[in-house]
Amino acid sequence: MSQLVVHVTGARPNFPKAAPVLAALADRGVEQLLVHTGQHYDDKMSDIFFRQLGIPKPDVNLGVGSGSHGRQTAAVMSALEELFEEREPAMVIVYGDVNSTVAAALVASKMGIPFVHVEAGLRSFDMTMPEEINRLVTDRLSDVLLTTSVDAVAHLGNEGTDPDKIHFVGNPMIDTLLKNLDRFDAEAIRSELSLEGDYIVATLHRPGNVDDPEDVRALVAAMHAVADQAEVVIPLHPRGRARLEEAGFLDHPKMRVIDPLGYLEFMGLVRGSRAVVTDSGGVQEETTILGVPCLTLRPNTERPVTISHGTNQLVTRENLAEKVREVLAVDRPETWPTPPLWDGHAGERIADVVTKVLGP
Ligand code: UD1
Ligand code: UDP
Repeated sequence: MSQLVVHVTGARPNFPKAAPVLAALADRGVEQLLVHTGQHYDDKMSDIFFRQLGIPKPDVNLGVGSGSHGRQTAAVMSALEELFEEREPAMVIVYGDVNSTVAAALVASKMGIPFVHVEAGLRSFDMTMPEEINRLVTDRLSDVLLTTSVDAVAHLGNEGTDPDKIHFVGNPMIDTLLKNLDRFDAEAIRSELSLEGDYIVATLHRPGNVDDPEDVRALVAAMHAVADQAEVVIPLHPRGRARLEEAGFLDHPKMRVIDPLGYLEFMGLVRGSRAVVTDSGGVQEETTILGVPCLTLRPNTERPVTISHGTNQLVTRENLAEKVREVLAVDRPETWPTPPLWDGHAGERIADVVTKVLGP
């Protein structure tokens, strides 16, 4: 019988999560097939992660590209169904909460292929977020639920998930961060971008911040109040870029909008910054380990462990400038707590679970 394990990835946050899992399973001699759905396709949103992190070139690229939620999810589903029929995997592994994740979950479960969800159980309890819908559906269908935090285990328990299916394995995104720490060169990126003095990094791409023109105008005003205090560098995600620029995002001498950065350059930039303003999931986690103050411009987070055990706090457009002032007034912390099992070994623990489920 086939022992093939198929990994389904597709969007930027998937790649640093999948890297340590692919490596740990390769070490154990497991037969693997890496699928890229093509949800993200710009070099800086996709291929650069493979080059920088030494991830094998995807065996298959479904090339689905951008589209509405329905179109994109459906395109991934129909292409995956065909692939799974042909390759008959013994197991499918999906990552995170993007449309490619839920599409793969639906196909695998309907075809009766056991599937594993890496980063299960995170909940923002905000059903206006497409990711929350993706997380709920994926977890409900998963055969094996691998969690990054204790609160995620509790959410799954509260939803009635069989405890035997849940494994607290830690955070593979942090494996990637710790493995590459020596390559995050803050001085190199500072000099490349000609940054002088303290600066703040921002990343903004959530629909809740960048889709509605009224929200965008308020966001631009809030970010200009941040730029009044320190230079702001924004490697801007393609979503919402045009809307932000139309609303005058760049009309401030201290706002620096640049293209998305490669992983190593981005982490170097974050490492050397005084603070980060973000609506990203991954960046909340990365700043937690790097000890960089993180101001999350969202009403909620599915990663509360980055607040209880890290440097994160939730902020609003209204109090953002004040929070930045507070953060800039104190030195970066010398020590800070870190979440349990964010220790660089999640990939190995995931491989242990996967090989056990696969059997001899
Ligand atoms: C997706 C995920 C989100 C994740 C984010 C990470 C879903 C529902 N959302 O959001 O959870 O936080 O990725 O970055 O899956 N585009 C490009 N080049 C690319 C990719 C996208 O220009 O390589 C532009 C297109 O105009 C596209 C838009 O970005 O329509 C949005 O892309 P999409 O993948 O639909 O959602 P994201 O906002 O990237
Ligand atoms: N990232 C990057 N370059 C950038 C912005 C982000 O390499 O310019 C990395 C960073 O490691 C982050 C990951 O991409 O954690 C995923 O980021 P994104 O905010 O797109 O997705 P989310 O975590 O919000 O789903």
